[in-house]
Amino acid sequence: GTPGRAAAGLPAAAQPGFPLARPRRLRRGAPLRRLVADVRLHPADLVLPMFVREGVTDPVPISSMPGVVQHTRSTLRKAAAEAAAAGVGGIILFGVPEHKDSRGSAADDPAGIVQLALADLASEVGGDVVIMADLCLDEYTDHGHCGLLTPAGEVDNDATLGRYAQIALAQAAAGVEVIAPSGMMDGQVAAIRAALDGAGHTELPVLAYSAKYASAFYGPFREAALCAPQFGDRAGYQQDPARSVGEALREVALDLAEGADAVMVKPALAYLDILRAVADSVDVPVAAYQVSGEYAMVEAAAANGWLDRDRIILETLTAVRRAGADIILTYWAAEVAELLRSRG
Ligand code: PBG
Repeated sequence: GTPGRAAAGLPAAAQPGFPLARPRRLRRGAPLRRLVADVRLHPADLVLPMFVREGVTDPVPISSMPGVVQHTRSTLRKAAAEAAAAGVGGIILFGVPEHKDSRGSAADDPAGIVQLALADLASEVGGDVVIMADLCLDEYTDHGHCGLLTPAGEVDNDATLGRYAQIALAQAAAGVEVIAPSGMMDGQVAAIRAALDGAGHTELPVLAYSAKYASAFYGPFREAALCAPQFGDRAGYQQDPARSVGEALREVALDLAEGADAVMVKPALAYLDILRAVADSVDVPVAAYQVSGEYAMVEAAAANGWLDRDRIILETLTAVRRAGADIILTYWAAEVAELLRSRG
């Protein structure tokens, strides 16, 4: 400091070399931090992914996702009611059928597990939470790919669209409230929208998995849904993580032009740049999917005592929110909803 200032009786802090501004002032104490926080999580914005498995009498634990199970129809009802009571905004259903074939017949069978479970959910929690269904073929095909195959074993984009349209109609008939196509076929939203409209389901919204990357973070899901590809991988239809945001924006724009009502970015934590760009570019609700591998990573580290589980869960969800997600799909949805409610 200058001797002149000290001589003039100015406080030390006013001397050059001391902070001109003190951002720490707003961090003093939890009440002040809570007052100025502007990124908030709310139970109503959380969606719980749930698995329902055909032909089992007890829930089947998923070893790579501790705490998540493949439900029976009756335990699904019970867990869905608990999630609804916790205040989650929605449930997204994935079916695990007993029999798989090359065309994924169980996906649109009116007596297939998803259709039956959708009807169960409608009677159990209908009117309380939004009942969504993933629309894809990988859980239902014996080869584990998201579409029909050509004789040469390639995923046949255009033939798959017809199957997606049939699945959309089956899910609609079973009472689904939002259809979420996740197969990354070109034109899938248009095909589904046309089928729904043609059958009078003009009011049924489509939440498109628009920017979906070919990610190793889906690993545990493939145990959960028993849908690992029997050969090859999904890199021929899901996006390449090594491509910049422009491709994601193009996928989003195409889905909106095809009639999507809301769009999704997936996975979440490793794709926050994509999420932010998408959120800035559209006026529709943007969802982010915190996927199975993101869940497994935290649970595994926490089980070893290496991370503070509850803080990490809230921190990652807050980051996803901060990056622009209006809706977050997370396997922790019910637990977090309960936690947020208990905090008031
Ligand atoms: C496809 C689908 C997948 C996931 C959701 N829908 C698997 C995939 O694309 O390979 C992954 C979700 C997760 O990892 O939690 N039906």
